[in-house]
Formats: sequence, C-alpha cells, structure tokens
Amino acid sequence: MTPQTDPAETVVSLEGITKRFGTTVALDDASLSVRRGEVVVLLGLSGSGKSTLLRHVDGLERPTDGRVTVLGREVTGLSGRALRELRSEVGFIFQQFELVPSLTVLENVLTGSLAAVRGPRLGLWSYGRAARAEGLARLERVGLLERAYQRADTLSGGQQQRVAIARALMQRPQVLLADEPVASLDPESSDQVMALIREIAVDEGLTVICSLHQVDLALSWADRIVGLRHGAVVLDTETEGLSKAQVMEIYGRVATSTDQLAAIELELAGDVAR
Ligand SMILES: Nc1ncnc2c1ncn2[C@@H]1O[C@H](COP(=O)(O)OP(=O)(O)OP(=O)(O)O)[C@@H](O)[C@H]1O
Ligand SMILES: [Mg+2]
Repeated sequence: MTPQTDPAETVVSLEGITKRFGTTVALDDASLSVRRGEVVVLLGLSGSGKSTLLRHVDGLERPTDGRVTVLGREVTGLSGRALRELRSEVGFIFQQFELVPSLTVLENVLTGSLAAVRGPRLGLWSYGRAARAEGLARLERVGLLERAYQRADTLSGGQQQRVAIARALMQRPQVLLADEPVASLDPESSDQVMALIREIAVDEGLTVICSLHQVDLALSWADRIVGLRHGAVVLDTETEGLSKAQVMEIYGRVATSTDQLAAIELELAGDVAR
C-alpha cells in the first residue's frame, strides 16, 4: 500500500509534555516530532518515561502540561467517540503479546479488526469472508500463514509477537506504538521482529515509535533514536552515523574504551533484568 500523503508530514507531535504522578515527574518538558513512515526508537533506563510517553500518543495518559497532536488532531482535547476514532488509527503492541492463548492464531488476528470492536465474538465465522481473507493476508505478511489454525499458545514467543503485529495491522493503523516488543525474546527472534516492524513501516508508510532496551537493535533498525533520562529528552538524532558510545550517553554513562562500553552494557542489562 502506498501512502497517499506527503511523506514529510508530521504524524505525531509532542510539545513540552510534562507528566506528574503525585510527586514523580515521569515526563519533563519532553518534545518530539515524528514524520510519516519514520521508525523512532526510544531508549532510556527503567523509569525514564518511555512507556508514559507512548501512552500519551494514544491518549491513555493526559499530560499535566503540554500538547500532543496525532494525525492533525490534538489528543488532549479528545474524548468519547473522537478518542476511539483516533485510537483505531494507532496500533499498540506490548512485551507480553497479549494473545488469547486458547484461540487460534487467525482468531487472535481477527480480534484486531474494527468489526471486532462491535458486538460479541462468536468464533471465526462471525467475522465475515472479507475480514477472514484480510486476516489471512496479514498473517502471510508476518510469515505465519501456515499457522493460522493452530492455537496461539503453541507458537514461540517471536511468532506470537508477529501474530500480535498482524492483529494490530487489522485495524489499518497509521501509527504503530511498540512498548518493548522484544523484551521477552531471544536475540535472534528480537532481530526478526524488529526487521519485520521496519519492513512494514517502509512498505506501508506506517509511522513507528518503539521503546527498546537494546542499543544495538536501536542502531540497526531505527531511523532515529530518542533518549530519555528522568523524563527529559536528552538525545534526538538520526541513527545514520551515530556511534554506540554516543548512544550510551543517554544512560548518563561515557565510555572511553570498548572495554568500558562492554562493562556499561552489562550493567544496563542487569538494570533491565531486575
Ligand atoms: N500510573 C502511574 N502512577 C504512578 N507513577 C507512575 C505511573 N506510571 C508511571 N509512573 C512513574 O513514572 C516514571 C516513568 O515510568 P515509565 O513506566 O514511563 O518508565 P519506562 O521508561 O517505561 O521504564 P521501563 O523501562 O521499566 O519500562 C517512573 O518513575 C514510574 O514509576
Ligand atoms: Mg516501560
């Protein structure tokens, strides 16, 4: 599918977002502007505000201060039907896939279709032929067509995340938010899932904002890296030409040798695992 709109169009814009939870400042005057088709990766230590930022983009959180605009609409001013409409254009995938384990892969994908939002779910045949065909096409897109009629819980983690991506695509979103989509996966599956997300973004003009903990993955798959520290944007740079040592400064760490870089990475991995 070719995007119909100007590729340089700003799709997501955060202007001076501050979010406080009681005395905790989760986001501190954070600004970010994302163009159509761009893949932006958010990096930062645990608690730096990545999830909170993502949740502002589809109106799951309201800023204490500042303005969020998505697809030309000010999210902060939306409620009810207008907010639901916006959310239908914003897909969201998570670390824990959130598939229904006892349903087939195809049924899981179909729960993402807009029709599924209305009315009760009555099994595969309640979706109609067009939706089923679209579900199968989405599964083919993520390389899992042959798994369509298997129970979701028989798939590997990487495959389950690909099903979750196919499910998100069923709502034909213009923006895909991904909150640590590969945090539960082994390195090879992580790479495959990030490659797939990037491929879909390029092919369909889908705008992606994805939080990650792995600097290498961010450098491999993002167009742009945005670093958060204590809720503030401390880096916002095209990935091209960016070094790993520069990215590490997001974490408040400066490495002057490769040994030091490796030591800091190990330490950060510990932070993630805790
Ligand atoms: N609903 C909430 N109520 C209170 N505090 C919150 C809430 N959501 C987030 N916070 C706080 O806001 C800060 C940012 O949290 P957030 O979850 O955005 O960080 P994160 O970068 O996604 O971390 P992680 O890498 O661990 O997922 C943290 O201090 C967190 O405890
Ligand atoms: Mg988070």
